Amino acid sequence: MASGLKVTAPLSISNINCGFDALGASLSLISDQIIGRRMNSPGVKINTITGEGKHLVSTDPYQNTAGVAILRFLEFLNIRTEGVELEIHKKVKCGSGLGSSAASACGAVVLANALFGHPLQNRELFPLAILGEYVASQAFHADNVAPCLFGGIMLVRDTRSLSIHRLHIPDNLLITIVLPELQIITSEARKMLKPDVHLKQMVRQSANLGSFVLALERNDYELLSASLQDHVIEPQRAHLIPGFYEIKEAAFKAGVTGCGISGSGPSLFAFSRNTSIAEEAGLAMQRVLKKHKVESRVMVARIDSEGTVLH
Ligand code: HSE
Repeated sequence: MASGLKVTAPLSISNINCGFDALGASLSLISDQIIGRRMNSPGVKINTITGEGKHLVSTDPYQNTAGVAILRFLEFLNIRTEGVELEIHKKVKCGSGLGSSAASACGAVVLANALFGHPLQNRELFPLAILGEYVASQAFHADNVAPCLFGGIMLVRDTRSLSIHRLHIPDNLLITIVLPELQIITSEARKMLKPDVHLKQMVRQSANLGSFVLALERNDYELLSASLQDHVIEPQRAHLIPGFYEIKEAAFKAGVTGCGISGSGPSLFAFSRNTSIAEEAGLAMQRVLKKHKVESRVMVARIDSEGTVLH
């Protein structure tokens, strides 16, 4: 593509143990780099997809989170004679549990908005990105889209009314990411979940979500550690990651504050506030995966507060 505009969209973790579909955090690591330009025919054309897992993502705009997000954008603005063509470069493959599909959707709407002269505010782009993300998960949830678009740690109180809230980022928070060479399809990892929750589980989970928010506000790592527990989803998905409980144990031995599955997996995340703990935990978790014959990649990040950025 000769010229055009470029956006970058970050990786994100979601659920964060106690907030299934409600909590997400943007990471200081890029997921997608998208270049786009206006074209004189309607719709979306995805010219190339490069990078990790390029064969896992469709260039058919109706099957691609970026494609659908822009189609919804064009419909919303009633733009019928022009369209957008794209080049997508993925740094992390879809199905990693790090919000890669959401990043494509967020990058796409920010890019399209810039290409058409910024007719919409970012908060108006938010529902369009959620519609794009629907292609990957077959559900309307914004726990990756919200942090990816706006940056920071976000609480999604309600997707329908778009009630989202920025949470405090505690001092010195580091996030270790361990990305195993496995792929989990989000829509399938959602289908396997039981539709009902026991009353006791509901009480524990909601208490932890409340104390998680307080812990962030107060920079209280002890309370954060106690709150980072998942009594509902983790027990149902743990079997998808070989050696999952052993991996968690290795992370806690290395001194992390909390550890869990990122999104629907297979990535794992761990919180800490010290670089040597963050790095050591990553290596310890990686060693356990290797013992279970799964290769993995370790990354250490901070919370990113910018979200999707137009360059
Ligand atoms: N909250 C979603 C889930 C995130 O766990 O299914 C998927 O990326």
